[in-house]
Amino acid sequence: MISVNEKCVGCGACVRDCPMGILQLKDGRPSVREEKAAGCIACRHCLAVCPTDAIALRGVKASEGLSLEGLSLPTAEMAANLLVSRRSIRQYAAEEIPPARIRGLLETMKSVPTGCNIRHLAFRYVETRARMDELRRRMVELLLAKEATLPDFLQGVVAAIRKKPEIDPFFRGAPHLLIVQGDPSAVTPQVDCDAACAYFDLLMQGSGYGTTWCGFLKIIVDAVPEVADVFGIPRGAPFYAMLFGVPAVRYVRTPPRADGAQIARV
Ligand SMILES: Cc1cc2nc3c(=O)[nH]c(=O)nc-3n(C[C@H](O)[C@H](O)[C@H](O)COP(=O)(O)O)c2cc1C
Repeated sequence: MISVNEKCVGCGACVRDCPMGILQLKDGRPSVREEKAAGCIACRHCLAVCPTDAIALRGVKASEGLSLEGLSLPTAEMAANLLVSRRSIRQYAAEEIPPARIRGLLETMKSVPTGCNIRHLAFRYVETRARMDELRRRMVELLLAKEATLPDFLQGVVAAIRKKPEIDPFFRGAPHLLIVQGDPSAVTPQVDCDAACAYFDLLMQGSGYGTTWCGFLKIIVDAVPEVADVFGIPRGAPFYAMLFGVPAVRYVRTPPRADGAQIARV
């Protein structure tokens, strides 16, 4: 399961950081406790913490990871500023984000955490405004056909679209949509999707783009399961969705938020 090369200095960093206690130091070298081996969640912390690039886990070498030496990171102030300044965008510019840029950002998303490191997420995205328009049209057609059976809240929105078809209360004129789809057999499938969306939100806003949580898509799919087929979401699959694009609005201050969430000692 693990192999250790001659660069190992026997420091035990991998043994101490293994969350499942699978590794042990034997004769100054890390080895697997065979009785615990099945519990490995492949988090690869043993590779990430090794100071000498000495370990490989199931053929994956430590040196394949991105070196953190000299990597620029936001200061504490910058991280806090990003969190308070990010906004849900409801006005998007006409332009699209270049496909290669979207792909690059989604590659970064492979680093998001999942319960027990299951990592069975699918990041499916709408690449162009034309495709977005097509999906929206097909979704609205289904909603109009089922209008009488919709929950009250959705009925009101659909009635407004019937009167004024050019409005877009569901997708806010965004040119792109990310659907994060989880694995129903995962340990925390829905939270994995929700958490990935939160990371995407910060990644995109930190990169100068706009995002909007698309709770509407979830509500709509729950009410009209046929809409899942339009977006290629398997029926009943855990998912969440985020709209994104270039913002066409600039905020000059944060909305005051001193009220709301409570902070208390346990
Ligand atoms: C789970 C979730 C679902 C949301 N769904 C929508 C949505 O469908 N449409 C929308 O315009 N905003 C949606 N929002 C955005 C919230 O309305 C927004 O976060 C809130 O009004 C505060 O504004 P801010 O994000 O700019 O701080 C959602 C937010 C969350 C966390």
